[in-house]
Amino acid sequence: SPRIVVLISGNGSNLQTMLDQGDANLLGGKIVAVISNKAEAYGLERARAAGIATAVVSNQDHASREHFDGALSEVIDGYQPNLVVLAGFMRILTPSFVHHYQGRLLNIHPSLLPRYQGLNTHQKAIDAGDQEHGCSVHFVTEELDGGPVILQARVPIFADDDACVVAERVQVQEHAIYPLTIRWFCEGRVVMQQGKAYLDGALLPTHGY
Ligand code: GAR
Repeated sequence: SPRIVVLISGNGSNLQTMLDQGDANLLGGKIVAVISNKAEAYGLERARAAGIATAVVSNQDHASREHFDGALSEVIDGYQPNLVVLAGFMRILTPSFVHHYQGRLLNIHPSLLPRYQGLNTHQKAIDAGDQEHGCSVHFVTEELDGGPVILQARVPIFADDDACVVAERVQVQEHAIYPLTIRWFCEGRVVMQQGKAYLDGALLPTHGY
């Protein structure tokens, strides 16, 4: 079964759903390691509780982005993954790192891409007066939050919602679509070719739906 390495920086609620789906044999692959750039990330405890190997590669121990990414990819490659999953991993990755994992690196982003790349996406959607928001699972390419989208989920924004309540609403959907996308990848149903994502051989809309 495909080997999955998950990268985190924080809470790890997305990781938890992957662990749970894995326990139920619904993930399509096996999480072989969880790696964090922060030693205090709660997701590391979730991994330990599930009996999964963990590692910390701290960006503070490395002088440059290139050195950090080099150290990180050495640890990742030690686990020989078929798939690397970014789950709340809050670091911008170098082009050479992204290239090394081309076609086997997934991310989830808390917006309906291509809207609201970067940080504070929920506040941005509220400030724009959007009535609709969501999350996107995409292949990672050298363009930040710009790789081809595989699956999105939408949520409403109601009058007087704050960023906190919207974030919670979005996360419920993240927990549904991320494990599903991982399963599709592990089953060979979703692939990236020439920078485009395909599901069951059909080209997916590059910038979401
Ligand atoms: C998720 O909402 C994810 O979309 C976001 O971080 C959160 C991590 O939550 N990712 C990004 O903003 C990536 N730039 P989790 O640690 O509970 O899974």
